[in-house]
Amino acid sequence: MSKALEGVRVLDMTHVQSGPSATQILAWLGADVVKVEALTGDITRKQLRDIPDVDSLYFTMLNCNKRSVTLNMKSPEGKQIFTDLVRQSDILVENFGPGAVDRMGFTWDLLQGLNPGLIYASIKGFGEGPYTHYKAYEVVAQAMGGSMSTTGFEDGPPVATGAQIGDSGTGIHAVAGILAALVQRGQTGRGQRVTVAMQHAVLNLCRVKLRDQQRLAHGPLAEYPNKEFTGEVPRSGNASGGGQPGWAVKCKPGGPNDYIYVIVQPPGWAPISALIGRPELTDDPEWATPEARLNKLDKMFQLIEEWSINYDKWDVLAQLNAHNIPCGPILSTEELISDASLVDNNMIVTVDHPERGAFTTVGCPIKLSDSPVAVETSPLLGQHNEDVYVRELGIAPDRFAELQKIGVI
Ligand code: COA
Repeated sequence: MSKALEGVRVLDMTHVQSGPSATQILAWLGADVVKVEALTGDITRKQLRDIPDVDSLYFTMLNCNKRSVTLNMKSPEGKQIFTDLVRQSDILVENFGPGAVDRMGFTWDLLQGLNPGLIYASIKGFGEGPYTHYKAYEVVAQAMGGSMSTTGFEDGPPVATGAQIGDSGTGIHAVAGILAALVQRGQTGRGQRVTVAMQHAVLNLCRVKLRDQQRLAHGPLAEYPNKEFTGEVPRSGNASGGGQPGWAVKCKPGGPNDYIYVIVQPPGWAPISALIGRPELTDDPEWATPEARLNKLDKMFQLIEEWSINYDKWDVLAQLNAHNIPCGPILSTEELISDASLVDNNMIVTVDHPERGAFTTVGCPIKLSDSPVAVETSPLLGQHNEDVYVRELGIAPDRFAELQKIGVI
């Protein structure tokens, strides 16, 4: 079966997580993604290694289905080869520190001149303005995009979330921009510049918190568990803070992840009050409506917890879902990696790597009926030099050997 992005060639100058997460998705959608690495390789090949001298899981889990070439972009020969690669590519993606590609000598004007159809995507920490030249990592974006100030409990410090919304969250925004530019190129024949800032992507994901910031002007946020409000949205623990109240309640046997997140929609109250052994609350005017419960959500979830603590989270999941009550057990990483339904959905997949052997990774969450994804290994450093430089760019074998000797590739 063909792939959605078959025939699309991506020059992938990304490193660490934000950029590689984007180009991995493009590869899964069928693009030919050629990762252009310095001779030392993407720094993550050597970071957090679990096996000596073997590419780390950090690298292998973010660079599947790509090819790898090495290229010294600071040598004149490297710049010439890169020029040839740009001419043959549809998309260039990079997430170096601000200005790095310009310093290599490749401004947008120059790149567009080389290939007017080129789509050139960059991920940076920030947009135009006072922070443009600042570097950024995941939690920097969480800090400056609204996530950290709104995550955690009221009486504790700001908290970073484990979900990599600054890196992989930005990566998926970049994919959207690249695909839109590809569609527009189909109409205009011209490529364009795609830029995504990590701070902007996190802010986009924190949109509802700015909703609440504006609601504060009209009084306290009744859906929040907090008792006092200042001029800013407070950290609200595990409260959903949305239209339907939710909280994480404890389950048996009381371990760190023996919790289930329960949401009480209006029709859920009758079955919940029956399940927890308090059927008299179903029609009690003090409890019967969402408005009546709003000032005692903590008490409501306490009553639910007094029931849930008697069962394990899987049992509670089954009991609540039998009544169509939305809920989610808190799944640990250990539970996730062996979860049968995730394996069945190709979301937990095992891949063979030439040096590390089999490793487990997270599959592609975007499912296209006519473009199935087979997750394949990440490449070794420079594994495809010969393929790309000799067979595809037409560099003669003796010149190829010389370029290797003088440290260009
Ligand atoms: N050949 C020669 N040099 C190369 C090269 C190649 N193939 N590929 C990269 N380099 C050089 C670049 O030219 C640059 O050198 P310069 O600073 O002399 O111009 C350097 O390697 C890369 O610099 P930088 O990207 O700033 O690396 P860093 O390790 O100092 O910073 C980040 C890492 C992530 C902080 C930074 O890349 C960044 O802010 N990126 C944008 C935001 C982002 O994506 N952050 C999330 C990462 S998950």
